[in-house]
Amino acid sequence: MRLGLRQKYALTILGSLLLVIFALSGILVLEARRSARRLAESGAEVAGSNLLEAYKKRGEGLIKFLAQDLTNPLYHYDMQSILAVTSIVRGQEGILYVYVYDPEGRIVHDGTREISSLNRILDDEISRKAAGSRQMLVQTAANVLDVSAPIRLADQFLGGVRIGISLDSIHSDISKMSELLDDIRSRSVRKNAVIIAGFSLAILILAVPVTILIGRNLSNPIELLSRLARQIGAGDYQTRISLKRTDELGELAGAFNVMAQNLRETTVSKQYMDDILRAMTDVLIVTDARLTILSVNRATSELLGYPEEALAGQPFSRVLPGDARLTQEDLAAALRKAPILGLEMELQSRNGKRFPVLFSAQAMQTGDGGARNFVCVARDITERKNLEGMVLQSEKMSAVGQLAAGVAHEINNPLGAILGFAQGMARRTPPGDPNEFSVKSIEREAIRCKNLVQNLLAYSRASKEPPAPISLNQCVLRALSLVESQANLTGVTIVQDLAEDLPGILGVANHIEQVVVNLAGNSLDAMPGGGALKVSTLLESPEGNGQVRLDVEDTGSGIPPDILNRVFEPFFTTKDPGKGTGLGLAMIYEIVQKHQGTIDVRSDPGKSTVFTLRFPALPPS
Ligand SMILES: Nc1ncnc2c1ncn2[C@@H]1O[C@H](COP(=O)(O)OP(=O)(O)OP(=O)(O)O)[C@@H](O)[C@H]1O
Ligand SMILES: [Mg+2]
Repeated sequence: MRLGLRQKYALTILGSLLLVIFALSGILVLEARRSARRLAESGAEVAGSNLLEAYKKRGEGLIKFLAQDLTNPLYHYDMQSILAVTSIVRGQEGILYVYVYDPEGRIVHDGTREISSLNRILDDEISRKAAGSRQMLVQTAANVLDVSAPIRLADQFLGGVRIGISLDSIHSDISKMSELLDDIRSRSVRKNAVIIAGFSLAILILAVPVTILIGRNLSNPIELLSRLARQIGAGDYQTRISLKRTDELGELAGAFNVMAQNLRETTVSKQYMDDILRAMTDVLIVTDARLTILSVNRATSELLGYPEEALAGQPFSRVLPGDARLTQEDLAAALRKAPILGLEMELQSRNGKRFPVLFSAQAMQTGDGGARNFVCVARDITERKNLEGMVLQSEKMSAVGQLAAGVAHEINNPLGAILGFAQGMARRTPPGDPNEFSVKSIEREAIRCKNLVQNLLAYSRASKEPPAPISLNQCVLRALSLVESQANLTGVTIVQDLAEDLPGILGVANHIEQVVVNLAGNSLDAMPGGGALKVSTLLESPEGNGQVRLDVEDTGSGIPPDILNRVFEPFFTTKDPGKGTGLGLAMIYEIVQKHQGTIDVRSDPGKSTVFTLRFPALPPS
């Protein structure tokens, strides 16, 4: 069982108190017992000596009486009278013997009728002293009080008389008294013990609540302090305690508060760090020294399509494309030497999509001085790359535009003369004339060239024609009517799927028609053996800022992935020399951009290609 501070404190105080009480009570009881015994002993002593004194007095009285009453009988050796006197004494209770003796100490009479010890001289110490003494003598031995006195007649020493008084009764009296005193003593000891026990109990009863109060007073603030410490340990640095005390506990509480405040100011909580990492939009990957992933942030899992936990423990190569320029080992080796800053590379998502990123990584010393970890940060630069591509495209287009403008300008005048003369000659050539076919051909090709040159001029220069609300569907219909005959020739079916009530767009109809013609032309080129050309329009997100969408889809040869991002480059063509200029899609790109639109291409090589164009829809008028 775990005891709290308060219980321990109370137990200690009460235990010590009990010990002191027991010790004190023991000492008091012992002392009382000892003094009672002493009292009893001295009482018995006093009583004993008083009794002895009384016995002596009795003995002296008796001996005086005997010495006096025996004087004459002894002088006359009147045995009868001696017997008469001595028998009076001899018959008394407690008298052990009576001896009457002559000057030599020889026993003359012993108080008995037969006088059994007549003429005996007693040789013991007491007898000798008694016989030798010329004065009254009181002697004590074992259980006898011996009293003797000389018997004189005038100056004549006739002998003496001795009596022995039994002291047995004294002893029995003394022991009786002792018993009485003992009884008194033990009763007083018991009484004392009861008083002491009662007193101790009273102290204990008083001590229990006092101890509990003191314990509470001591342990409550400690409990508060320990709760505060636990809260601080759990990362709650807001908590404070207020102890209105001026002692050490009060000081401790103050110190705790200061500590919590300091911690709050200096410690970055785990939650705070997590929030920062969560809010980061860049990819953050922490790896160990061998580039095994330890943890990733949410942006990483969102970009790469892995759950956050799924990447922990995986090698870094898991997020690199299979054909990455730098392998995991290359990166680890580079990082061991120096940090990597702003390296352009690619990361690959779970479903194989590649992301251009700006990659930086740095070694991080772990707190325990153990192996170094690496912190890798990667910024997705897909957007930037796209913009760069668009800028590049625009630059190329403007270069082409200048070139085309120059060339068109130079060709325009001579072409005008050729067309003028060809038309004049055609008018003058009668039907059936052998030159008729040649002249008509010159006129037709010259017209085609003029159109081309004018288109070139139109795309390269800022178009003179101002943009106006136009219908995409009508542009599509007009453009398709131009390619229809060619489609019939090559066995291509044209499918139209045009949305009704399509909002208008702001643009130049002529240019949009050129776009459709060019896209359809490319599709026909891609389907020499026939196929289907589907042209559809629709309105996207009609509630918000709507977009009018145009899809041109064919079942042709498709575009291999490695050239997919190059098809919009000026002069990029896969067609034989003389057959394609590589300008078609470049011009389309330019026109779409001028109309604030976008163009995307998807292709399944060998199966299909689809170009998707989007233009801002005009609000319904
Ligand atoms: N629908 C398509 N199917 C297959 N490949 C296409 C398609 N559209 C374009 N391409 C490819 O893109 C290249 C560039 O097309 P672009 O229209 O710019 O030039 P071009 O058609 O080659 O020449 P031009 O348009 O001057 O006749 C083409 O050579 C072709 O390889
Ligand atoms: Mg083309």
